Amino acid sequence: MVSMRIIALASGKGGVGRTTITANLGIALSGFGKSTIIIDASLTTPDLAFLFKLEKSVYTVNDALAGEASLEDVLYNGPKGVKIAPAAVTLEQIKRARPERLPELLSQVPQKTDFVLIDAPGGLRRETVTAIRAAREILLVTAPEMVSVSDCMKTRLISEFLGSTPIGVVLNRVRREEFELKSGDIKTILNVPVLAEIPEDEKVGQALKQGKPLLVLDAKAPAAKAIMGLAKRLLKVKAQAP
Ligand SMILES: Nc1ncnc2c1ncn2[C@@H]1O[C@H](COP(=O)(O)OP(=O)(O)O)[C@@H](O)[C@H]1O
Ligand SMILES: [Mg+2]
Repeated sequence: MVSMRIIALASGKGGVGRTTITANLGIALSGFGKSTIIIDASLTTPDLAFLFKLEKSVYTVNDALAGEASLEDVLYNGPKGVKIAPAAVTLEQIKRARPERLPELLSQVPQKTDFVLIDAPGGLRRETVTAIRAAREILLVTAPEMVSVSDCMKTRLISEFLGSTPIGVVLNRVRREEFELKSGDIKTILNVPVLAEIPEDEKVGQALKQGKPLLVLDAKAPAAKAIMGLAKRLLKVKAQAP
C-alpha cells in the first residue's frame, strides 16, 4: 500500500516561520526513521537553501521546474538523512522556474518515501495555489495574532476548494503575552486542531546566523522540542487518501 504523505506548510502571511518549521520538521521526521524529502516551492522567497547552507547549489528546484533537471539531480543530503530540494536564490533563476510543473516534479518522488514536505509560498498567488493543490495535506502556520490567523483562514478555505485537506495549524513565535490569541480560539476560528505551539526562541535566530538548522544546533532548545513534538503528532494523524 502506498502511504506517502505530501504535506504543504502554508500560511497567508510571510515571516510566520513556514521555512524554519519545514526544515526542522523534515529533520525530525527523518530522525524518527521516516524517509523524508523537503521541497522549496516558495520560489520568489526561496529561503530554505540558507538554512542548510545550500545556497550555492549548482542544480535547484528551478532547473527541475524549467524541465532541465530531474528531481534526483536537485536533491541534497541533509542532517539525519533528510533530502532537500532547494530553490535558487538569484533573480535570474527565479524567472526560469515554471511553478505549474510542481506536480510533474512530485511524480518523480520515489515510492518508498514516507513524507514530502513542501515549503509553500505565502499569499494566494498562482505559485501558492499550485503548491497547495499539489499537496494532499495542508499544515497551516500562523502567529498567535488576529491578522496572521485571519490570513490563514483564506489559505484554509482555498485549500479545501482545491481538494487538499487542512489537517491542523501550528502556532509559531508564541510568547504567552496577554494580547495573543489563545490556542482554543485559533482552533475555533480555523476549525482545525492545533498540532503544536512553538515558542519564540532566540536559538532560531542563532541557528540561522550559524548556518545550521535549529535541531542540529540545539535539539533541546524550546522551539526544537516543540517541532519534535509536532513530528510525533504528525505520525499519528491518519494519512489522507490520494
Ligand atoms: N519560533 C521562533 N522564534 C524566533 N524566531 C523565529 C521563530 N520562527 C521563525 N523565526 C524567525 O522569523 C523569521 C521568519 O521565519 P521564516 O521561517 O523565514 O518564515 P516564512 O517562511 O513563513 O516567511 C526568520 O528570521 C526566523 O529566524
Ligand atoms: Mg519562507
